[in-house]
Amino acid sequence: MRTSARLERIPPYLFAELERKIAAKKAQGIDVISLGIGDPDTPTPALVVDALAASARDPATHQYPSNRGRPEFRDAVTRFYQRRFGVELDPATEVVPALGAKECIFNLNLAFLDPGSAALAADPGYPVYTAGPLLAGADVVPMPLLPDRGFAPDLDALSEADRERSRLMYLNYPNNPTGAVVPDGLFERADKFAREHDVLVVHDASYTETTFDGYVAPSFLETPGAKDVGVEVFSLSKGYNMTGWRTAAIVGNADTVEAYWRLKTNIDSGMFDAVQIAAAAALDRGDTAVGEMRDVYARRRDLVCDALRAIGVDVTPPRGTIYIWAPVPDGHTSASYCELVLEESAVVVSPGGAYGPAGEGFFRISLTVPDDRLAEAVERLRESLGG
Ligand SMILES: Cc1ncc(COP(=O)(O)O)c(C=O)c1O
Repeated sequence: MRTSARLERIPPYLFAELERKIAAKKAQGIDVISLGIGDPDTPTPALVVDALAASARDPATHQYPSNRGRPEFRDAVTRFYQRRFGVELDPATEVVPALGAKECIFNLNLAFLDPGSAALAADPGYPVYTAGPLLAGADVVPMPLLPDRGFAPDLDALSEADRERSRLMYLNYPNNPTGAVVPDGLFERADKFAREHDVLVVHDASYTETTFDGYVAPSFLETPGAKDVGVEVFSLSKGYNMTGWRTAAIVGNADTVEAYWRLKTNIDSGMFDAVQIAAAAALDRGDTAVGEMRDVYARRRDLVCDALRAIGVDVTPPRGTIYIWAPVPDGHTSASYCELVLEESAVVVSPGGAYGPAGEGFFRISLTVPDDRLAEAVERLRESLGG
């Protein structure tokens, strides 16, 4: 069997060795606590589950959905953007449902990239920003996100050749994996860059609802003129505890939304109507549940940051996301430190290098385990690495 050259372009899976070691430990009966994956541990709010159950009982939802999305869904996204961000959307042309941000981001590569062109991708970043362009036969230009710039990419540092061949720019704030919130003026700089170089800005808004200390994350579309040059991918996965539901929306530039829709009509058949109705309920009535989750993650964030500081890790508490991003101690690579943590504490943390070359030297902790398990994990870190 021969796999495609396209598939062979994907770099080796950096978690592979770690996963092998985790499996070996579990096989020995060791209680491994995984702080690796960002998948909310608490259930989807009851009002959303109830809306799904009621809609799923209605046979009218059982046929092929439309890739354009139901009016209830598009209207709810429009209402949400107005209420939450003060952004006006036209539900007929500027909103289409997506089967998760992952699907949407991947397919945007197919819709906008050709061989010879490139995507500008946040580094470290969500892996689809780099695998997607490669699978589309195009290239990736990494934009390093470093602490001394507040995790903002340095757009001025991009070469003329890279500016010219780039057609997409992936941004994501609050940011996975760094936990950074959008640095002042970055959206405006991205907007200007996009106009000058004919680049489409894709802002991944997967964590805008998960913020702390009173910080309220903006939409990229709040930037004046942003709809001329960009789209936002809004996911319900993290903020609403709906990772399994595959619910997101692409909003913004109408031509881009149309191109995405046109591509998708050839790939999938849209989002289950009952899920669209439930997602609309989440957007319309989910604020309280989202606020409760913010409190849960803020509590867990403080627990982890205090424990890391106690063992000498220099960590800055993030104002958003469900992750802690911290430097590995001197003398370690991110992979060697994650292996040490696993060996000494039976706790899994993610090596920063897995999110891109600029992530080397860091590790990521996910806050998506129940409080008692998280408390046990940090206690183990204190005991085994504290000295
Ligand atoms: C930055 C970012 N974008 C997108 C996703 C995937 O979101 P979805 O579940 O909507 O596909 C994740 C999941 O971890 C993420 O961290």
